[in-house]
Amino acid sequence: MNARIIDGKQVAQKVRQEVAQSAAALRARGVVPGLAVVLVGEDPASQVYVRNKEKAAREAGVEPFDHHLPATTTQRELLDLVARLNADPTVDGILVQLPLPRGLDATAVIEAISPDKDVDGFHPQSVGRLWSGLPGFVPCTPLGVMRLLAEAGVQPDGLDAVVIGRSNIVGKPMAALLVAANATVTVYHSKTRDLPSIVRRADIVVAAIGRAEFVRGEWIKPGATVIDVGMNRIDGGGGGGGAKLVGDVEFAAAAERASAITPVPGGVGPMTIALLLSNTVRSAERRAARTAD
Ligand code: GUN
Repeated sequence: MNARIIDGKQVAQKVRQEVAQSAAALRARGVVPGLAVVLVGEDPASQVYVRNKEKAAREAGVEPFDHHLPATTTQRELLDLVARLNADPTVDGILVQLPLPRGLDATAVIEAISPDKDVDGFHPQSVGRLWSGLPGFVPCTPLGVMRLLAEAGVQPDGLDAVVIGRSNIVGKPMAALLVAANATVTVYHSKTRDLPSIVRRADIVVAAIGRAEFVRGEWIKPGATVIDVGMNRIDGGGGGGGAKLVGDVEFAAAAERASAITPVPGGVGPMTIALLLSNTVRSAERRAARTAD
C-alpha cells in the first residue's frame, strides 16, 4: 500500500478538544452551550447516531436536550416542538435526526428551524448563504471532510475534484465547499456518463453515494486524495454471519494508487459529530456576544 491513511479518529479528537476548550470558556462566562436533539420513531441506526451525539456533547461540555418522540408524532406536534426550541434561549443548536418516519414532512420541519440554530446547515437560508459565500452554518460531514483535507496538507486550489453523490446532506454542500476552496468540481449522479474517466482525472475524490465499494481502485489517479464518506454494512463473509462496515471505495486497491485515503471506519465518520459540536459552540459564542451587548 502506498497511500497515507488519514486518521479521522485522531483529527476528530483534536476538534473535540478545541470544542471542549471553547465550551469551557463560555461556561466560565455563564453561557452553557445547548444542543437539542430530536429523534422521532425507533429507527435503530438513528438511535445509535443520536445516542453517540448526546454522549459526545456531554463530554465536550455541550448540554444535550433529548427529545425522543414516538413514531406516531404528528407534523403539528413536531413543528410545535421546533417552535418551542427556537424560542428557548438555552438552546443554541437544533438537530432533527433524518430520515423522519413516513408521513412527516422533513422539508417543512427543516424550514421551521431558526437559521440561527440550524447547526446541521440544512435550512434553505444556510444553503443559500453557503453558495453565496456568506457566513452561516455548514453541514457537518462536508465540513469534516474539508478539515481532513487541511490536516492531510491538501490545498484544493486549482485541483480537479469529483464529488460522487448529490444529496443535500453531503454531496451538494461538499461541492459548494470545494468550489469555495477554488477546486474545479464535478458532481456525479445517476445520469452521469462515464464516471471512471471523470475519477481518472480527479486529484480529490469524495465518495458519498452509499454503495459498497462502488468506486474501483483502478479508476484512482496516481497520487490522488481519496475521501470515503460511505458506511455500508455488508455480510462479513467467512460464514460467521457478522456484518462488516465498508466504504464507497474499494479501499485496498485505491490505497495502491492514492497518496492519501480515509479508512472506513475511522475516517469521515468520527468527524461529523465533532463538527456538529463545533457548530453548536459557534452558535453559543454568537449568543454570548449578543448578550454581552
Ligand atoms: N441523518 C444522517 N446524517 C444526518 C445529519 O448529519 N444530520 C441529521 N439531522 N440527520 C442525519
